[in-house]
Amino acid sequence: MKSVLFVCLGNICRSPAAEGVVAHKAEEIGLAIRCESAGTGRWHVGRAPDRRMREAAKRRGIIICNQRARQLELADFYEFDYIVAMDLSNQADILSIAPANRSCDIRLFLDFGSGEEREVPDPYYGGDQGFEHVLDLIEDAATGFLDHIEKEDR
Ligand code: 4NP
Repeated sequence: MKSVLFVCLGNICRSPAAEGVVAHKAEEIGLAIRCESAGTGRWHVGRAPDRRMREAAKRRGIIICNQRARQLELADFYEFDYIVAMDLSNQADILSIAPANRSCDIRLFLDFGSGEEREVPDPYYGGDQGFEHVLDLIEDAATGFLDHIEKEDR
């Protein structure tokens, strides 16, 4: 079974949503995959996802209220097959602490998306529309990511 760790800055908006959406879609198609998420920052460690993201996800049938934020740690680079960044700044932060002998693939989530955008934008300081846009991007990239995993598992 493949494993993936989604990573954003706070681990309370984008990466919990990516974890929830990918786990949900994987279950729908009967694919076994281990999904978790973490943040590069430590401000929100131990907290549930942001209420705005919990509510926006719930409207799409994705329940993320039981997740708790944690910070990316060294062991993750050996523990997961994929570490997937939400934006370029997350990816740079991940690479800056990645050990040379890591066993994971470090990827940008929207590389699996079908659109032109490269980054899932940080919705934290914006309005509700930002959360909907983030979920649209995540749902699209989740499909591409799971296609990729299914091909690898075959
Ligand atoms: P996330 O959003 O990285 O998608 O979880 C953020 C949450 C909190 C902060 C920044 C981004 N913050 O600065 O506290």
